[in-house]
Amino acid sequence: MQIRGGPHRYRVVVDADLLAQVGKYAHTYLARETCAIISDNNVAALYAEQVKQSLSSAGFRHTLIRIPAGEKLKTLEQAGAICDRMIAAGLDRKSFVIGLGGGMIGDISGFVAAIYHRGIPHVQIPTTLLAMVDSSIGGKTGVDTRDGKNLIGVFHQPSLVIDDLDVLKTLPRRQFNQGFAEIIKHAVVADAKMFQMLQSWKGATPALQRLIKRNIQIKSRIVAKDERDRTGERALLNFGHTIGHAIERAGNYRKFLHGEAVSLGIVAASAISIQRAGLPEDQGAAIVDLLARLGLPTRLPRNFPRTKILNAVKFDKKFEGGKIRFIVTPRIGAAYVADNVTVDDICEAVQQL
Ligand SMILES: NC(=O)c1ccc[n+]([C@@H]2O[C@H](COP(=O)([O-])OP(=O)(O)OC[C@H]3O[C@@H](n4cnc5c(N)ncnc54)[C@H](O)[C@@H]3O)[C@@H](O)[C@H]2O)c1
Ligand SMILES: [Zn+2]
Repeated sequence: MQIRGGPHRYRVVVDADLLAQVGKYAHTYLARETCAIISDNNVAALYAEQVKQSLSSAGFRHTLIRIPAGEKLKTLEQAGAICDRMIAAGLDRKSFVIGLGGGMIGDISGFVAAIYHRGIPHVQIPTTLLAMVDSSIGGKTGVDTRDGKNLIGVFHQPSLVIDDLDVLKTLPRRQFNQGFAEIIKHAVVADAKMFQMLQSWKGATPALQRLIKRNIQIKSRIVAKDERDRTGERALLNFGHTIGHAIERAGNYRKFLHGEAVSLGIVAASAISIQRAGLPEDQGAAIVDLLARLGLPTRLPRNFPRTKILNAVKFDKKFEGGKIRFIVTPRIGAAYVADNVTVDDICEAVQQL
């Protein structure tokens, strides 16, 4: 697929058995000879060898940089350490970066690519469903700080994205399921037909390939209209995320995976949409049913402290000048930024979760 991300164009390949062809694709789309492969220990143990072999046989020189898995390591210090290792390996402004892993690796490797020698090309090889349908597309890169997620970052579109469906076979079930939160989000904000299709989802491989492609299209089209997140178009992708991020934070980024927190955020945002945007009640119920059907949580644990979530909502960066920019859906397949959602609406929706 050819993707437009702002003024940039890049290829996304979605198919089985692609890791063995990374060298071939890199050779076709990048006129460069040296690269860093950035990966986490889990993913590197499974897939780095295949990627290295493929690059070697296409004539590339490569350096594998492994970092421990997990969001905790998505920091500025870690990005600096990666840059130091790239310098030590003799990589220069003619090199490129491959990010081999989930969204965490995609974000930090993209950030490194954006700042190394003021920017070198980035190849994304996403290995989680979430990264394939969401984080590898759109050019948002960055790291976390002590105070919050993704507070430091750069827009840097990838030059090439390679989605090998085979890697999903080793992805733990919970990690796989969380990808569906972003898929359902895409369906709710932009694609009623995909929503229907998901209602009878059986999970066969050819269907998964089509589904991933469809989600890449949806995300990239929205991003192309508003690459830098300025006009409000890209903000539609934050449906379910204002409350979702707060839930993630309230659970100390341990209790819920991102997609699980977003699933709960979608439930709350749907309830608010019924109140404030005229979403028909049966459509709100259908959204909750679909999340549950695809293995995602739709209720908070009974004794989970709701106040922690509300405090975290107030911390969210989507509050601009004290006003809440809250994404609502008036019907499945459409969304807009509402200005009539109050903190009380959010409190009520969180209490009911
Ligand atoms: N840039 C964006 O637009 C954007 C969008 C959404 C999320 N994100 C970011 O993405 C990150 C979350 O990404 P994620 O959910 O992919 O998590 P992740 O990258 O932390 O991966 C989750 C876990 O799965 C393991 N793993 C990955 N692929 C595997 C495979 N094929 N087989 C076995 N294990 C595998 C990893 O080692 C890790 O332990 C967060 O940092 C979030 O901020 C970014
Ligand atoms: Zn998300």
